Amino acid sequence: MNICYLNGQYLPRDEARISPMDRGFLFGDGAYEVIPVYSRRPFRLAEHLARLDRTLAALRIANPYDLAGWSAIVAEIVARHPWADQSVYLQVTRGPDAKRNHAFPAAPQPTVFLMSDELVANSADQLAEGVAAISAPDYRWLRCDLKTTALLANCLLRQLAVDKGCAETLLFRDGYLTEGSASNIFVVRGGVLLAPPKSHLMLPGITYDVVLELAARHGLSHEVREIPEDEVRSADELWLTSSTKEVLPITRLDDRPVGTGRCGPIGRQMHAWYQAFKDTEMRGG
Ligand code: PDD
Repeated sequence: MNICYLNGQYLPRDEARISPMDRGFLFGDGAYEVIPVYSRRPFRLAEHLARLDRTLAALRIANPYDLAGWSAIVAEIVARHPWADQSVYLQVTRGPDAKRNHAFPAAPQPTVFLMSDELVANSADQLAEGVAAISAPDYRWLRCDLKTTALLANCLLRQLAVDKGCAETLLFRDGYLTEGSASNIFVVRGGVLLAPPKSHLMLPGITYDVVLELAARHGLSHEVREIPEDEVRSADELWLTSSTKEVLPITRLDDRPVGTGRCGPIGRQMHAWYQAFKDTEMRGG
């Protein structure tokens, strides 16, 4: 049975109810996080909760819990499910109001919701062959650095990929790579790893940080800089990264092969570093 947390209670997910007057429902007025859990241990929990805190501050929603409070609820949600590897979803909305009104309620009562699902690793086939992606203009708003539940643009952009049997949509704004509809994107050219700089145009990914840390630790040449569209299209390797997909090679873009069209050596290496890093973190090392 899938158990969720809603406003202080643990209950079966299909019995959880929120008001239709919740501003999360009416306006997408909320913040969220997706936290991977390996061997029952949340990965980079403090970093996810710090990003949640930044999103909530920008949304002017008081953070209902401190690090210890959140950690306890996440631990309880993890304990209530049978899987060793889980994906914990956490959401805070501005809560319900008496009337629909764009302006905030005078005394908001945030809605807090957590749930968990099994975290299914990338298939051997996906890791061996990579995935296909398309590209589209990035028409989202100018606060893509905030992890808000208002994801309609991301959903529309992701569906364009699904319609074409692809895994992700790469986004370009004003001729430069921003990110994917639900992932960050890395580029490899001439043995150098390239990553777009953090800005209001992309989500500062927790996995993105881990990948750059691993590149630095292992002495892989890397540059964080603006990446023009033609450098993406002529890349040797492209990867997508996220908390649920980890590091996944993109081997086709807009129906053309990326580099050789096979998973590249640097992506394989990064994947191995990532798995080794996860293992040491989960052993508490
Ligand atoms: N999405 N960019 C966007 C737009 C995202 O939605 C995500 C993650 C990322 C990667 O961030 P991180 O490495 O912190 O997961 C980048 C999550 C997984 C989701 O919405 O399901």
